[in-house]
Amino acid sequence: METYSDDVLKRTHTCGQLRLDHNGQSVRLCGWVRSYRDHGGVVFIDLRDRDGVTQVVFDLPDVSEKDDADAQAIYKLARAARNEWVISVAGQVRPRGEGKDNPKLATGQIEVICHALTVLNRSDPVPFEPDEFGETAEETRLRFRYIDLRRPDMTKALRLRHQICRTMRRVLDEQGFVEVETPFLTKSTPEGARDFLVPSRLQQAAFYALPQSPQLFKQILMVGGLDRYYQIVRCFRDEDLRADRQPEFTQLDLEMSFCTEKDVMDVTNRVLRDVCDVSDVPFPEDVPVMTYDEAMRRFGTDRPDVRFGMELIDITDIAKKSDFRVFTGAAESGGAVQCIVVPGGADMPRSATDALADWAKGFGAGGMPVTKLGANGEFETGVAKFVAPIAAELIKATGAAEGDLLCFAADKLKITQRVLGELRCKLARERKMIPPDKFEWLWVMDFPLVEYNEGEKRYDALHHPFTSPNMDDWEKHQDQPEFFEKIRSRAYDIVCNGMEMGGGSIRIHSPQVQQKVFEMLGIDEASARVKFGFLLDALRYGAPPHGGLALGLDRVVMTMIGVQSIRDVIAFPKTQRGTCPLTDAPGEVDEKQLAELDLKIIAPPAKENTNKTN
Ligand code: AMO
Repeated sequence: METYSDDVLKRTHTCGQLRLDHNGQSVRLCGWVRSYRDHGGVVFIDLRDRDGVTQVVFDLPDVSEKDDADAQAIYKLARAARNEWVISVAGQVRPRGEGKDNPKLATGQIEVICHALTVLNRSDPVPFEPDEFGETAEETRLRFRYIDLRRPDMTKALRLRHQICRTMRRVLDEQGFVEVETPFLTKSTPEGARDFLVPSRLQQAAFYALPQSPQLFKQILMVGGLDRYYQIVRCFRDEDLRADRQPEFTQLDLEMSFCTEKDVMDVTNRVLRDVCDVSDVPFPEDVPVMTYDEAMRRFGTDRPDVRFGMELIDITDIAKKSDFRVFTGAAESGGAVQCIVVPGGADMPRSATDALADWAKGFGAGGMPVTKLGANGEFETGVAKFVAPIAAELIKATGAAEGDLLCFAADKLKITQRVLGELRCKLARERKMIPPDKFEWLWVMDFPLVEYNEGEKRYDALHHPFTSPNMDDWEKHQDQPEFFEKIRSRAYDIVCNGMEMGGGSIRIHSPQVQQKVFEMLGIDEASARVKFGFLLDALRYGAPPHGGLALGLDRVVMTMIGVQSIRDVIAFPKTQRGTCPLTDAPGEVDEKQLAELDLKIIAPPAKENTNKTN
C-alpha cells in the first residue's frame, strides 16, 4: 500500500460540480470508475463520487509525441482501469463539443482531459453495478452494502437524512430544547413490542432490556426540571417486521413541561414544516385534526390515508332487511355490515375479485362478498341476487354508479373496519388512484385510553401506560370496567399519507392516577413496583405536568423521498428476518462468553436452520 502525496489526494472539485463555467481550469478529481469505454486511441472513464459523475478523457499521444513516455503510461493505465477502481485524476476542463452533451448528467456539458492518473485501489469484479440496482436482489445489496451505498439513490437518501436531522436539531434548539442522552442498557419500557434482552455479567441471572423508547427517562428528565428535552435516538423493538418497521429504528423523541396537547403539536408542526422545506415537500399551513372515532368510521384505521376516497359506508341497517345470511347474521349478532365503492371497479376480472376473499381471510374476515352495478340500477355478478331486494336503498346509501364495484364486509365491527380499511389502500395502490406528489398530513386525537384484549382477557393501553386519560372521562368511568373503553386519552398521532409518523401524549403526573391506570391494565401494585417503582417514586417528588411525542425518523425520511421500504433510508438495516447480511448478525457466541454470563444453550438449533441469509 502506497503513501500518496497531498497533490494526489487533494481534490479541487467533486465529480458533480464541474460546469461549462470551469472551461480551461486545471482540476483534480478522485472517485470510483463507474464505467469505461475504450475507443482505440481514446479512453473515456465516467468517474463517480457521492456528488455525481464526470467524464474523464484519456487521449493516446499522437505519433509526434510518441517519445512522451508519461503520456503513454497514463493512457495504458487508463485502458487497464476497471469498474469500481478508485482513482485520482488531474486534468483540464473542456466542453464536450457539438452534439456530445449528455443532458442526463449535471456535468454533461463538460469533460476533463486527463494528464495525470493515479490508481489508488483496484476492485475485484463487483457482484452488481451500483447504478443498476433495479436488477439486484435486496439480499445481495445488503450483503455488499458498501457497494450499494455508492448508488446515487442511497447516497441521496443518507444525505437528506442528515439534512433532516440537522433541521430537527436546529428548530428544537431555537425552541429551547436540550439534547440529553439516555441509557441503552436499561429496564423494559412497554411500547407494545417484545424487548431485546442483554444478559449482565456482573449481576448473574439478571438482564438489561434495550429501550423500546426513552419514554420513562424523558419523563424523569421533566421531574428533574429539564423543562424541554429532545434526542435523536435509537429504539429497539422485537416485533414482526414490515416495510415500515425495523427492529432498531430512530426516533426524534421530545418532551416538555407545563404544556397542553396544542403546545406539543405546535412544536411538532414547526419541526415538520422545516423538515418538509429542506426536502422540497409541501406542508399545510394548518394540519387538519380528526378524532379517532371519525378516522375509524370513515377509513377503518387510526392512520387514515386521505389522499383518495373509497370511504367505508355502514349499511348494517339496510343489510338487516336482506335475505343474505352473511349480512343478517352479522347484523343480528351485534356486528356490522360495511362496504366500499370502487369507482369503475366493474372492470376488475372475476379472478381478481374472487382472490379478494382469500386476501380478506388474512385479516380475520370470513370472505369478501362483492357485486357490480350494471345498467338500469341493477346489480350484476357476485352477491347480486342477495342484494337485489335492497338494491335501491344500497345505491342511495353508497352513491354507487354504473360500472362501480361494491366490496362488503360483514363481521364484528373491528374486523369490518380493518379489512375494508386495508382494502381501500390496496385497491387505491393497485388501481393507481393515489395522486403522485400529494402529501396529506393529519393529527388524530381522542383515542380510547385502553382497548380490550380478547386473547389475554384484559385491557391494554392503546398508546402506553403513562398516557393521561381525559380527566372528565376518567372522573366518570374510572371505577366502571364496562365503560373503560369509553375513556378517552390525551394522546395524539401525526399521520402522513396513511403512515403513522409519530405519536405522543400528555402524561400522567399524579402517582395515584398512574397507580390506578396500572391496575386497570391488570398490573397489580407489587408488579408495578418491580417494573416501574422508580417512576412512581419520581412522580411523588414534584413531577410537573408534562407531555411529549416521538417521530419515527426513518418513516419521515421515507415519506420525504417517496420510497416504500424503510431499508432504503437506513445505512445498515436488518432483513425481514432481523438479520444483517453484511455482518451475519445475529451470530453464535463461544462457550467462554456464555460461561461468563452463566448462560447455557440447552437446545442448539439444527444446522440447516441456522442459515440466516434470507
Ligand atoms: P410510538 O411507539 O408510537 O411512541 O413510536 C413513535 C414513532 O416511532 C416510529 N416507530 C417505528 N419506526 C420504525 N420501526 C419500528 N419498529 C417502529 N416503531 C415505532 C413510528 C411511531 O409513530 N414513547 C412513545 C412516544 C411518546 O409518547 O412520546 C413512542 O415510542 O413512526
